[in-house]
Amino acid sequence: MVPLVRTLVGLLLGGLGARVLGMLARFQTGASDVRKRASRRTFVRNATLGAAGVALAEVAGGFVYFFWPNKTGAFGSKISVPASSVPAVKGVPFRSVPGKFFLVHNDDGLLALYTKCPHLGCTVPWKGPADAPNAFQCPCHGSRYDYNGVRTGGPAPRPMDIMPVTVGNDGTVTVDTKPDGIKTRSAYTKDQAVAFTS
Ligand code: FES
Repeated sequence: MVPLVRTLVGLLLGGLGARVLGMLARFQTGASDVRKRASRRTFVRNATLGAAGVALAEVAGGFVYFFWPNKTGAFGSKISVPASSVPAVKGVPFRSVPGKFFLVHNDDGLLALYTKCPHLGCTVPWKGPADAPNAFQCPCHGSRYDYNGVRTGGPAPRPMDIMPVTVGNDGTVTVDTKPDGIKTRSAYTKDQAVAFTS
């Protein structure tokens, strides 16, 4: 009997143990699933937030880049003209399209003429020749200007405006195209020209 009882007790304890271990295993697996689900949720949330953050940063970066003042070499900045590009006296003007000026060289020196017509703002092109009364002629309403930018005809109310010019020791010319530095004038006077020796 004793062996039989021992066997029965052994089977009973073994079955119970197996059950308990099975329950523990299930419990552990469940906890790990919960942890896995939680960590998956966290991962998805973080990934979504990260992607949204990167997209926002890109948009913000593009916005700042687009609106950041970048005036190097453009209208509103100081533009350098190398000495080699300065026209000879009464020569064909040097034109800076981004700077919106013509650099002319008369007997007194250099003048930077703002290409915006003082009438209604069209761009005034060079027509030439230098000694013609219509060296510059506005295509919009026919205002005409001589080599110094002085009006010789048409509806413009005054000569072409001028921009400040400085000449460096090496002959490099700098034109300040800042809009609030542009000067209006009613006639040409010698002091408007900046002496230039190459
Ligand atoms: S805008 Fe130049 S003449 Fe009118």
